[in-house]
Amino acid sequence: MSLQHPFRVLIPHDSVLRRIREVAAAIAADFPNEPPLGIVVIDGARMFARHLQKYLQVGMEWHELRASSYGSGTTSSGAVQLGGEGRLSVAGRTVLVIEDIVDTGRTIAALMERFLAQGAREVRVATLLSKPARRVVEVPLHYTGFEIPDEFVIGFGMDYAGRFREIEEVVVYEESRAPAVGS
Ligand code: IMP
Ligand code: MG
Repeated sequence: MSLQHPFRVLIPHDSVLRRIREVAAAIAADFPNEPPLGIVVIDGARMFARHLQKYLQVGMEWHELRASSYGSGTTSSGAVQLGGEGRLSVAGRTVLVIEDIVDTGRTIAALMERFLAQGAREVRVATLLSKPARRVVEVPLHYTGFEIPDEFVIGFGMDYAGRFREIEEVVVYEESRAPAVGS
């Protein structure tokens, strides 16, 4: 029951789900009383967050925040743009940032800096994937799904220029295999 695509599978769908369940259990064990404030870095982390939400405490507060450093290429531009978070107040809260991939670390570093400057008590990070070989800024990752090699991946909510989020596995993007737009 898998969508057809031409890419090489890095992590099968059922392995992703199993691991998310373990990550959720670790988070739940760390917050037995007061749940953290979940902040989902969109768009890429939405699918990961949706699955975490299934396994975590009902009634936990979640917000979405847009962060972009990639534009439409496969290498980071270096500058991180953060969306406005409206009425979101993190003062005195423990924030749990939900990310799809930590690559250079710049996005997480920018988010941590912002939330701590706004008075968050603590900022923790849950990421589905991490590419340690690409790190430019060291950031603490409290909950990591999988460490992966330095390859550009798509699927399970992650995109290349807005495409391929619907692929169920985590797969390696290769331009030469990608179907033309509209085909
Ligand atoms: P960082 O700021 O360099 O750590 O980049 C983090 C952001 O870049 C992630 O939130 C992703 O949205 C995006 N990103 C990094 N690597 C990949 C990848 O292999 N596939 C899709 N998006 C990626
Ligand atoms: Mg992201």
